Amino acid sequence: MGNIITICNPKGGTGKTSTAVNLCCALKTVNKRVLLIDFDPQRSASVALGYEYFDAEHTISSAIIDDVPIESCILHYTKGGFDLCLASDDLIAIPQVLKDVPNSHLCLYHVLNNLRERYDFIIVDTPATLNMLGVIGICASDYMVITVCCDLFSIDSMHNLINKYHELKEHGMTHTKILGIVCTMFDKLQPLSDIILNELKSSFNELLFKTKITYNPRISESSSAAVPVLLYDRTSLGSTEYLSFAGELLKKMREFKNP
Ligand SMILES: Nc1ncnc2c1ncn2[C@@H]1O[C@H](COP(=O)(O)OP(=O)(O)OP(=O)(O)O)[C@@H](O)[C@H]1O
Ligand SMILES: [Mg+2]
Repeated sequence: MGNIITICNPKGGTGKTSTAVNLCCALKTVNKRVLLIDFDPQRSASVALGYEYFDAEHTISSAIIDDVPIESCILHYTKGGFDLCLASDDLIAIPQVLKDVPNSHLCLYHVLNNLRERYDFIIVDTPATLNMLGVIGICASDYMVITVCCDLFSIDSMHNLINKYHELKEHGMTHTKILGIVCTMFDKLQPLSDIILNELKSSFNELLFKTKITYNPRISESSSAAVPVLLYDRTSLGSTEYLSFAGELLKKMREFKNP
């Protein structure tokens, strides 16, 4: 049975998309069957893998809004060896289109739930928002991974996300669990980075991934080259850290399932 993992933080630019695409690549290296869902109307994950909006006849919004079978919305990303569903800016229309549909917060969950036999992991890249699209992204998943870069705004928005998560749980709207928090773009030359990392360690303890993703220019270069850093420069620090992050994620999931 496949696992659905949402990568989230309602603040922009915390490394969600970089984490999502590189996690997919890293999971493929250990022979997992992986599907990436670009659930951001900005289409960053689609762009990060070199896709134009016209490269797919159907996108994830086609499955949600137009009831197109999800299988018809999936492409194969040959370079990375995983599948993906592109985004389109139609995603913006979802809150309005589904406003009278009962349990509309589960629209993505229902679509992805049909794919559990086909994949070991379905990774959802979410937009930087806690509005309905953000909520749909959270409610689609079994596990959330929260990305924080070592600045106070991203920590603040992580707290807003965690509050929202508890609110959704209290209302019985999701069964998802927080798998962990990963520190991205860690820059040891910034004095605040160590202070924030230590605070995260003391506040979140086991929830904080031990692997942190260091600020590494090869990652931003790889985004400009429209390939994940794991395909752009396998020997870079960014690649090594994303591989070890994926290893730690697999271990954490085993521990969650067999406490
Ligand atoms: N570890 C890193 N080192 C250097 N640059 C990075 C790193 N991680 C991400 N970046 C760059 O920072 C920018 C923002 O990263 P990314 O798009 O992954 O964040 P995001 O949270 O998905 O943003 P948004 O909220 O806008 O979707 C991108 O240009 C990316 O290439
Ligand atoms: Mg993004």
